[in-house]
Amino acid sequence: MQLKNDLLLRAAKGEPVERTPVWLMRQAGRILPEYRAVRESVSGFIELAQTPELAAEVTIQPVDILDVDAAIIFSDILVIPEAMGLPYEMQEKRGPWFPETVKTPADLKKLRIADGVDDLHYVMEAIRITKKALDGRVPLIGFAGAPWTIFAYMVEGSGSKTFSKSRAMLYTEPEFSHQLLQMITDSTINYLKGQIQAGADLVQIFDSWAGILPPDHYREFSLRYISQICEAITEVPKTVFAKGAFFARKEMAALACETIGLDWNMGIAESREMIGPNKTLQGNLDPAALYGDARQVEAATRAMMDQFRGSRHIANLGHGVYPDIDPEKVKVFIQTVKEYR
Ligand code: CP3
Repeated sequence: MQLKNDLLLRAAKGEPVERTPVWLMRQAGRILPEYRAVRESVSGFIELAQTPELAAEVTIQPVDILDVDAAIIFSDILVIPEAMGLPYEMQEKRGPWFPETVKTPADLKKLRIADGVDDLHYVMEAIRITKKALDGRVPLIGFAGAPWTIFAYMVEGSGSKTFSKSRAMLYTEPEFSHQLLQMITDSTINYLKGQIQAGADLVQIFDSWAGILPPDHYREFSLRYISQICEAITEVPKTVFAKGAFFARKEMAALACETIGLDWNMGIAESREMIGPNKTLQGNLDPAALYGDARQVEAATRAMMDQFRGSRHIANLGHGVYPDIDPEKVKVFIQTVKEYR
C-alpha cells in the first residue's frame, strides 16, 4: 500500500523532505490515559501485548492523539528471550523479571533459536492488523533489542544497577557468551524479517545497555552482532539506537544501517562529524526537557532543531518518553518540530 506520509522513510534514506519527521521512543504507553484504559481492561502488559487487536489499538493511539509521523508496534524487546525458551514476567513496580536465567554454559541446552514468526505469531498478527487500520497514514516501525541488551536481561534476570553478572560473563566465559549472542542474533534476524514480511516499514534496534561496556567489549560483544543484523536485513531501512555508546560513534558510521539514534548526552555537531554525512541522525532532546512549561519545551525543541539544521534528521527524544510526562507537552514538542523552518 502507498503511504500518505512517508517522511520518516525518506528522511531515513537521505531523500529530500518538506520538513523533519518526528516520533517518540516509547510513545505507545503509559503517558496516554487512553493507553491506561486499555491496559486496565486486561490482566497486564503481557496479555495486552499478546492480544493483537488491543496491541494494534494502542499502537495507533499516538498517531491519532499526538499526531506523530510514525507508529511503533506495541510489544517489548523481551519477547525474544521468551521465544528462545526463557519466559518473562512484567511486574508492576519492578519492571521485567525472568524466573529463570542463564547462569552456566549448560543452560544453553534449554534454549533454542527462535523462528520469530510462529513463536511470535501474535506480534505478526498485531502488525498485520495495525497496517490495515493505519491505511497508509504513517509508516509502521518494527523493532528488537540488540543482542547484547537481550543477553544482559537473560543473564541478570531483570534490570540492574551494575549489570555485573552479565559483564562478568564476558570475562569468565567469553566463548559461551559468543554462543549465546549468536543464538540471540539469529533469532532476532528471523524475528525482524518476520515483522517486515508482516508489514513493518522500517526497523529499529535498541541497545539500551550499550553504555555499560568498555569500548573493546562493546566492539567484540555488541557491535559485531548488530552489524550481522544490519547486513542480514536488506528489505527496509534500519535504525540503530545504542544508549550511552558515545565512544563507538565512529565505528557505528560503518554499520550497514541508514540511521543512528543519538541519546541526549551526545553532542549533535560532534556526532555529525564523527559519523559523517552519509547517515541520518535520530534524536535527541533530553526526555526531562518535557517537564518544563510549554514555552520551555518549545525553546528546547527549537534549540535542538537549530543544531541539526541542514543535515539528515529524524526528530525524537534522546531516550524513551518518561511515563509521568504530560501528553500536552509531548504535543508541544511534536508541533514545534512540525512548524520549524
Ligand atoms: O516504543 C513504544 O511505544 C513501543 C513499545 C515498546 C515497549 N517496550 C513497551 C513497554 C518498546 C519499543 C519497548 C522497548 C524496550 N523494552 C526497551 C528498549 C528501549 C529503552 O527504553 O531503552 C527496553 C530496555 C525494554 C524492557 C522493559 N520493558 C522495561 C525495562 C520495562 C519496565 C520499565 C518501563 O519502561 O516501563 C518494560 C515495560 C514496558 N514495555 C511497558 C511498555 C508500554 C510498561 C508496561 C506497562 O504498561 O505496565
